[in-house]
Amino acid sequence: MMKVAIIGTGYVGLPTGVGLAELGNKVVCVDKIEDKINRLNRGELTLYEDGLEELFKKNVANGMLRFTTNTQTAVKDADIVMLAVGTPPHPLTKEADLKYIYAAAKELAPFLNGYTVVATKSTVPVGTGDEVENIIRQTNPKADFDVVSLPEFLREGFAIHDFFNPDRIVIGTQNDKAQKIMLELYKPFVGKSEFLCVKRRSSETIKYASNAFLAMKIHYINEMADFCEKAGADITEVAKGMGLDSRIGKKFLNPGPGYGGSCFPKDTNAMAQMGKKYGAHLTLIETTIAENDARKIKIGQRVIEAINEHPEGKIAVLGLAFKGGTDDCRESPAIDIIKEMIRYSRNIMVYDPKALENAKTILNNTVHYANSVEEACMNAEVMVILTEWEDFRHLNLTKLKKIMHCPKIIDMRNMLNGEDVKTLGFEYQCVGKKVI
Ligand SMILES: NC(=O)c1ccc[n+]([C@@H]2O[C@H](COP(=O)([O-])OP(=O)(O)OC[C@H]3O[C@@H](n4cnc5c(N)ncnc54)[C@H](O)[C@@H]3O)[C@@H](O)[C@H]2O)c1
Repeated sequence: MMKVAIIGTGYVGLPTGVGLAELGNKVVCVDKIEDKINRLNRGELTLYEDGLEELFKKNVANGMLRFTTNTQTAVKDADIVMLAVGTPPHPLTKEADLKYIYAAAKELAPFLNGYTVVATKSTVPVGTGDEVENIIRQTNPKADFDVVSLPEFLREGFAIHDFFNPDRIVIGTQNDKAQKIMLELYKPFVGKSEFLCVKRRSSETIKYASNAFLAMKIHYINEMADFCEKAGADITEVAKGMGLDSRIGKKFLNPGPGYGGSCFPKDTNAMAQMGKKYGAHLTLIETTIAENDARKIKIGQRVIEAINEHPEGKIAVLGLAFKGGTDDCRESPAIDIIKEMIRYSRNIMVYDPKALENAKTILNNTVHYANSVEEACMNAEVMVILTEWEDFRHLNLTKLKKIMHCPKIIDMRNMLNGEDVKTLGFEYQCVGKKVI
């Protein structure tokens, strides 16, 4: 049993805290947002993740998990302090903004008590560990500690599953004592997951290199989809054929409107900036960022072209979240595509099963909001699918054909069966293939 303090109780900190408590550790989660901590202390979850509630309640009830706004009470007894605060993109430079990391390091330093491992779970640029170490040493010269990089690979929406089933656990330190403590914490995963003990700078790089690679893989299949459309091939067949090669793998080969979300755009940008900083230009990543941005504009224009006979006609958009299964609209491709369409049309009605409220805070009154697919599609000139919600696979197309002004669908997630849609009399476009 270890005593763990987690600084930052968000999408990473909370599931990690719950998971570590479930493994038998005494965990205190800290956040500076008082309302968040009050709600958690009342037994209310502050974010939705499958399987989180049951483990949260159980571990609060048995005293293994606590929440506080007071860094001192959490840190003074801890064997391990984890940093899980945000590292958002800097609005001007697009580098990772490290102000929360540095502030947290400064705040926790005076309360370190006995040998403590400070482990950075936040995604941070190479060399941040050195800076955290300097800040703690300057703030508390007597502190006995080591700083370890401990990158987080969980996926939003699958955080609990991923906590208990990690592909790999990366521990970035060359200090034996710190490494031993981290290996002890993750002992329950021995035999289940790969362990990788590496230099701190390698560990910091692994996280960015992985996310940038995944973003490039998405961009690659999107480019292949564009090629297939022009060359008369079918991207679904091509992706299947590629994915059967174990060196390539089946995952992340679904073409669509471009990658988005709270991690890929910010991490690709931060990695590209790091490349510039170190004079090692990361041209593949730079191209991926530029082309992923351009793709969303092209898709917006493709929709506008589809209504060129009735430019005043209504556009129905299905899907606003950056992926299915979440209400998160941060950097959602759907939002950027709509922003492009707004330049030409004021007659756009949008629908999403979970993300309407979040989308409203971004799109405001530039579009109309529908409470159902039918309301969005009523009298529409074209319907566009932008997020892969399972519900959209089972649309009542016979009904929609009757209520739409023009039976036209642009399916940017390849959700529908093109042949069926065409048989019903729709004009149909999708990604990476022509349905005849
Ligand atoms: N969200 C993901 O899916 C994911 C996955 C892997 C890695 N990451 C990385 O993990 C880090 C955290 O991401 P997140 O999505 O959990 O962020 P988040 O915004 O959900 O949570 C961060 C929390 O830290 C708190 N905080 C900031 N400064 C603090 C301080 N000094 N003391 C106490 N609390 C403080 C904030 O109030 C906030 O609640 C980021 O670097 C991110 O890139 C995120």
